Amino acid sequence: MAILKVTRLGHPVLRQVAQLVPVHSILQPEFQQFIDDMIETMHEYEGVGLAAPQVHVSQQVAVLEVSKHPRYPDAPSVPLTVLINPKVTMLSEEKVDGWEGCLSIPDLRGVAPRYRELRVEALDRQGQPLDFVARDFHARVIQHEYDHLQGKVYMDRMPSLETLAHLLEGQRYWLKD
Ligand code: NI
Repeated sequence: MAILKVTRLGHPVLRQVAQLVPVHSILQPEFQQFIDDMIETMHEYEGVGLAAPQVHVSQQVAVLEVSKHPRYPDAPSVPLTVLINPKVTMLSEEKVDGWEGCLSIPDLRGVAPRYRELRVEALDRQGQPLDFVARDFHARVIQHEYDHLQGKVYMDRMPSLETLAHLLEGQRYWLKD
């Protein structure tokens, strides 16, 4: 296992549409190792998701997991999921605002609207089909990671940059109850 170097905003790979993963390569040891490395990297940097372009690999792979996350303490748990070549279909017209951050945009957060509900069709790390519906925070994480595979970042989804905040200032002025 290895912790991979995370791409930061400005690296061109973050702005490319990632390549489809050839299905025959999924079970190969090199690709399985890459998935393990992505999971370890996500855990190391306390992300709730990580897309391959964020580790300099322009392929349609993302991992996500939410479990008692320190930065999202109220978020419902999402089991560890590997999405290969995902297709996302929005199931609601409704969008909800929520705070997002990104390992490729360190120390910043901002409010972005996301669809409340969506359907995901993808392959898992065994190359088996996945087909499920995600809502609310789970749907938000998937939209964020899917965007990375399309060359988009959460700031592209912000209607205004007025909520853009450094992490500590955001906690101090925006998230206080
Ligand atoms: Ni991100």
